[in-house]
Amino acid sequence: MRTASLTLDPAFTVGPVPHRLFGSFVEHMGRCVYTGIFEPEHPSADENGFRTDVLELVKELGPTVVRYPGGNFVSGFEWEDSVGPREERPRRLDRAWRSIETNQFGLAEFDAWARAVDTEPMMAVNLGTRGLQEACDLLEYSNITSGSKYSDLRIAHGSKDPFGIKLWCLGNELDGPWQTGHKTAYEYGRLAAETGMAMRLIDPDIELVAVGSSNRRMPTFGAWESTVLELAYDAVDYVSLHAYYEDADGDVASFLGSAVDMDLFIEQVVATADAVRARGKHSKKINLSFDEWNVWYQSRPHHAPGVQPWDVAPRVIEDEYSITDAVVVGTLLNSLLRHSDRVTIGAQAQLVNVIGLLRSEPGGDAWKQTIAHPFEQVRRLATGEVLRVAATSDKYESDKYGDVDVVDASATWDEDTSTVSLFLANRDLADSAKVDVSLRGFDVSKVVTAKVLAATEGQDRHTTNLEGAHDAVGLRPLQDVTVAEGVATVVLPPLSWAVVQVAKA
Ligand code: AHR
Repeated sequence: MRTASLTLDPAFTVGPVPHRLFGSFVEHMGRCVYTGIFEPEHPSADENGFRTDVLELVKELGPTVVRYPGGNFVSGFEWEDSVGPREERPRRLDRAWRSIETNQFGLAEFDAWARAVDTEPMMAVNLGTRGLQEACDLLEYSNITSGSKYSDLRIAHGSKDPFGIKLWCLGNELDGPWQTGHKTAYEYGRLAAETGMAMRLIDPDIELVAVGSSNRRMPTFGAWESTVLELAYDAVDYVSLHAYYEDADGDVASFLGSAVDMDLFIEQVVATADAVRARGKHSKKINLSFDEWNVWYQSRPHHAPGVQPWDVAPRVIEDEYSITDAVVVGTLLNSLLRHSDRVTIGAQAQLVNVIGLLRSEPGGDAWKQTIAHPFEQVRRLATGEVLRVAATSDKYESDKYGDVDVVDASATWDEDTSTVSLFLANRDLADSAKVDVSLRGFDVSKVVTAKVLAATEGQDRHTTNLEGAHDAVGLRPLQDVTVAEGVATVVLPPLSWAVVQVAKA
């Protein structure tokens, strides 16, 4: 049996749980939009063409914010194609994912869908093939009530009320050579500063996200953030981070330690942003928008530009997630919570089919992937204040990250309901882990929730939820939980993710 001990105290907090931390992402990529959230021919489709089976699952997950419309897609997107009468909208080549974009789902449809699932839209503008003027036109179309060219056009298109979008991404991954309109940090920093400043003149209430590094391994990582923020500090509110992890090269030990990398990535971006703040004598802090994160099997063959024919909604990176992946996703959520004083926006990528929390088949079923379970639980149960977790844990060795804690944890404290919520992962593939949690200063003694995701009989760490076996992997009651004299003791099965809530008796 492996062991860990955690100490919590209501006086030691990271800060309030940021509402926007549990977002997701809908990109015009593969089948995320078409046959994902939108499929007018599907038996469950409503009058808007939205799949209501998917919609109901999205409502259960409850993403608090949804980024749209890309991703790499946005760097070639002409927003004007996606508005107005559907029959007049052009079919366009999407170079990023080598697909045909029909534009049958566009801005008004996204606005209606976001309202239907009760989420906040986070809109990205194209700073790849387009620039300041088109970003301002899109903002005018979206947020100005009436009486100007683009606001009146929106009204003529049938949307009387403005969309009222507050959160805007100034482009996507422009540090990446794969990006249409890839730029140097200087080129992008100037463009972001000019565009952000002009957009604020149209709507001073918007919040702007500057593009950070596409991942921590980028050769320009650090220097990119530094240059971009030197140039655009006053114009922006957030800098973005993207990270994907995979179980590759037979190195599952490192894969299970992915949150160590995420912790480091966040801490390095915070340090870089704060160094620019100090140099520029700025009083405002730049916070972090971790607006693409997930497990993604990038080394497996997938739809490669230049190879496939031009199709509508091809199957692109429809990764099927295992129990191991769900445990890793649980630890990535822990990393976000641990740093939620500075990471105040998060967007898991993506919502449906494309590295999706959900899967759906054209004309067929929709279901939750394994990774949807930790996402949903943390989104629903992490409330109140994020607690600082003082942890000591047994360790294991990994090639990429050295010694890694066997038990990974985060915790929240909700004073209104007098509830401590613990989100725990056991990274050991073979052994259970006993976790003692010292609940100092909390008057809690009743276990109100104890659920675990782990392999059951006949399953192994590779088990997934498939069509015809939607619920193979899910949450089941965790039996081994006790609380006595201010100490909760939890026994986690091998390779598992769990949520435990302890409340006032
Ligand atoms: O989420 C899939 C892709 O990953 C996005 O389009 C891009 O921004 C990132 O590289």
